[in-house]
Amino acid sequence: MSIAEDSPGSPGTPGSPETPDVIAVLRGDHQDVEELFKKVQDHAHYRNRRKELADQAIIELVRHMVAEEQYVYPIVREADGGQAVVDHAVSADAEAEALMKQLEPLEATDEVFDRVLIKLMTVTRSHVADEETQLFPCLAAACPPTELREIGERVQAGKSVRPTRPHPAAVTTPPGDVLAGPVPGLVDRLRDALARPTEGGY
Ligand SMILES: [Fe+2]
Repeated sequence: MSIAEDSPGSPGTPGSPETPDVIAVLRGDHQDVEELFKKVQDHAHYRNRRKELADQAIIELVRHMVAEEQYVYPIVREADGGQAVVDHAVSADAEAEALMKQLEPLEATDEVFDRVLIKLMTVTRSHVADEETQLFPCLAAACPPTELREIGERVQAGKSVRPTRPHPAAVTTPPGDVLAGPVPGLVDRLRDALARPTEGGY
């Protein structure tokens, strides 16, 4: 059963006119991430919180990218001219994810932190501009408003998922023991949690 079939047209329920559609939700994500980037860059006010803010920007970006992969790209791929738009978006996402993986182990005091951050900001701003001028219009043309609101509700629900903590054994393995493998970073742990949201995060 679709979400809309559960309670069609009731105010405040998924798919109802009061539910923000997925394009509004994703535009809001873009604004939130931009605000976080500005705070990370603002040494004067956020010097001691820059690492925490950078992690929060990574979390918001990964959630956003996964939502687009799950709900938006499959629809736009099927739309007229949509395949090229999605191919471009996927390529930009891969570039952003590689930069996030470079950024996640760094401390704000590391020499390269700002260099990687600025690259990530540049790639993300390009992603935002491309999506708002190409991807979202394609999505709006391909999808009826009720379905856009249903998807918006699902994307909002994914925002409660948190990245899992690194496995303690992976951190405290005594010298001489064989390590099970590298400790997954923030990006991979969040992707893992989003793939099985019913198991929760922390
Ligand atoms: Fe986006």
